[in-house]
Amino acid sequence: MSQRHSVFRNESVLVPEYIPSATPHRGDQMKALEMYFQGVVERSDRMSQNVLLSGPVGSGKTMLAKKLGTTLEKSASLYGNRVKFFHVNCRIDRSLQAILTKCLHFLGHGYPSRGFGFEELLQSFFEALTGDKIHLIVAFDEVDSLVTVDPSSLYTITRLREISQDAQVFSSLLISKTLDYLKMVDLSTLSSLQWNSISLDPYSLQQLYDILSSRSQDAFNDGCVEDDSLELAAEIASTYGDARYALDLIYRAGRMADVADASMITPEHVRRAKASLPPQFKKEELAYLGRHQRLILISISNLLKKSDSAAYITIGEAEKSYDALCESMGVTANHHTQVWNDINELSRKGIIETQISGKGVRGRTTMIGLSLVSAEQLIDELRSMVADVRG
Ligand SMILES: Nc1ncnc2c1ncn2[C@@H]1O[C@H](COP(=O)(O)OP(=O)(O)OP(=O)(O)O)[C@@H](O)[C@H]1O
Ligand SMILES: [Mg+2]
Repeated sequence: MSQRHSVFRNESVLVPEYIPSATPHRGDQMKALEMYFQGVVERSDRMSQNVLLSGPVGSGKTMLAKKLGTTLEKSASLYGNRVKFFHVNCRIDRSLQAILTKCLHFLGHGYPSRGFGFEELLQSFFEALTGDKIHLIVAFDEVDSLVTVDPSSLYTITRLREISQDAQVFSSLLISKTLDYLKMVDLSTLSSLQWNSISLDPYSLQQLYDILSSRSQDAFNDGCVEDDSLELAAEIASTYGDARYALDLIYRAGRMADVADASMITPEHVRRAKASLPPQFKKEELAYLGRHQRLILISISNLLKKSDSAAYITIGEAEKSYDALCESMGVTANHHTQVWNDINELSRKGIIETQISGKGVRGRTTMIGLSLVSAEQLIDELRSMVADVRG
């Protein structure tokens, strides 16, 4: 069998988790982050830092954080200091307790996941750091989901650096799309946070093009991607300024080229990739939803699909449909307030769109629609999770 030609030199370069060596247009922000933590690097037992990093989807926050971690650990070791960096996603580890337990495991200390109170956990955490003479920097990625669930967690994080008196052992980097979550916390927490903040702008078309060019060099074989294709992918993604979307487009376009046995990625492959990819819609988002949030989303999608022409349904209709779905599945439906909270959460995540209707036929009520994806697509995605929903 003859070897099939592939446009890819190294596909793995384009997966979201890959940490690129070159990061065009984020040099200044990287430097600024390093500067903030320079004190910790040089005098890790005397200094502690707390930095906020915010920016829209795909603006490079997670990437910057992970690169920062490697740099800081290395620089600290040049000063003879033991600094460790740990990245957690608060959407996956949803409580401070879970996060600190994970930190302890990361540091090589066992800790039972149940049976002990938070104070005991804190104590073990500090004993481990002090005993090992380690300064731990934790990057709390998507920290807003942690703060939404438990607003006091932010207070605890800011106070962690004050708990150990003899030596500084803890710093934090708080990552989120917006700084809205700060509105949920009290003023004293805010005042200790307000200082060091870096906010990233969405990427421009030109910047996305540069990012794509840079990543393509390692990802594709020489001469296998037309410049026009990179430009088109950058242009499409520039509506959102989202580098993840741009990279996903070119990756999919590469797959399309391979499937068609083409020697080059052409703009047509990019267009096809775009058609295969609902903009900004991320399946992972659905996986993180709670069971009742999924049930609510299925109910909303079903209703919108049925009423083909309507762009919006009322919150009352959504709730009724959700109650019926729960009943048909033998699941106890949540009460009104919880359903309302879940709907707000879905809206906050950008999966549904809510708006207050004017004083029309139905009076003032919250209207729900889907902005980025069709009801049909959502139902398709959710169908595979229905077993889970039922479970
Ligand atoms: N300047 C850059 N150069 C090269 N690649 C980049 C750059 N900025 C972002 N990327 C890549 O784009 C993708 C998205 O970046 P990242 O995951 O850091 O976004 P994010 O800001 O954390 O988004 P989200 O809020 O959705 O989590 C990653 O694959 C990342 O490596
Ligand atoms: Mg991220």
